[in-house]
Amino acid sequence: MLRIEGMNTHYGASHVLHGVDLDMPQGRISAVLGRNGVGKTTMVKTIMGLVGLSGGRVAVGGTDITGWPPHRVAREGVAYVPEGRLIFPDLTVIENIKVGERGSGTRGAGTAWPLARLLELFPSLRERSASRGSQLSGGEQQMLAIARALVSDPKVMLLDEPSQGLAPLVVRELARIIRLLREEGVTILLVEQNMKLAEAVADDLHIMVKGRMVYRATPDVFRAEEEAIRARFLTV
Ligand SMILES: Nc1ncnc2c1ncn2[C@@H]1O[C@H](COP(=O)(O)OP(=O)(O)O)[C@@H](O)[C@H]1O
Ligand SMILES: [Mg+2]
Repeated sequence: MLRIEGMNTHYGASHVLHGVDLDMPQGRISAVLGRNGVGKTTMVKTIMGLVGLSGGRVAVGGTDITGWPPHRVAREGVAYVPEGRLIFPDLTVIENIKVGERGSGTRGAGTAWPLARLLELFPSLRERSASRGSQLSGGEQQMLAIARALVSDPKVMLLDEPSQGLAPLVVRELARIIRLLREEGVTILLVEQNMKLAEAVADDLHIMVKGRMVYRATPDVFRAEEEAIRARFLTV
C-alpha cells in the first residue's frame, strides 16, 4: 500500500535520509522508532511532499507519487497527523474536523468516516464538540488531529509521534483507536520515539539511526530483544 525505495532527503547541504526503504502491506501497522533527530519526521514529510526528495521513489497502492505536491498526495489517499497535532486553537472541535474534509472534487461522494461516526469513535470529542481547540487536553487534541485526518477517508495514515506528552491511560486509548482503524483496513505508518505505543500496536517494527533503517522485527522478536535494542538504538 505504501512503498518507499531508496529515499534520500537533504535540507540544503545537510543530508538527512540515506536510502530509506519501507514496504507497508495494506491494512497493517508499521512503526518506525528512533531517537530524536534521526530523520523520522523528515521521512513522513518527504512522503507527503512537504519536503522534496533528492533520490528514490514513493508509491501508494501501486501509483508512483514521487515528487508530487502535498495536495495531490492527500488526494491519493494519504492523511498526515503531524507531530504536535497542529490543530486550530480558535476553531471548535467540529470546525477542526471539517477542515480535513476533501475538496470540491469529491465533496458529496461520501466518506467511510462521516462526522457522526467519528464522534462515536471518539466519545471525548463528542462531549467537547463545541469547545475550541485551545480548550482541549493534549489527549483530546491528539484524538481531534486523528479525526481530522480520518474524515478525508484515507487509505494510508501517517502518525508522527502521537503519544508525545500523553499520560499512559490516554496512550492506551490511542492504541485502541489505532487497532480499530487497522480493522477498518486503514494502513498506518506510526513514527515514535517512545516504544510503548509502537510495541502495543505495530505489526512490523523498524528502527532508524541517522537517516538509515538499521533494524526490522516482528513484535515478538522485538519484545524478546527489547532491552538490547533500547540500549543500542534508542537510549540517548
Ligand atoms: N527544516 C529543516 N532545515 C534544516 N534541517 C532540518 C530541518 N528539519 C529537520 N532538520 C534536521 O534534520 C534532522 C532530522 O530531523 P527530524 O526529521 O525532525 O528528526 P526526528 O523526527 O527523528 O526527530 C535533524 O538533524 C534536524 O535538525
Ligand atoms: Mg520528529
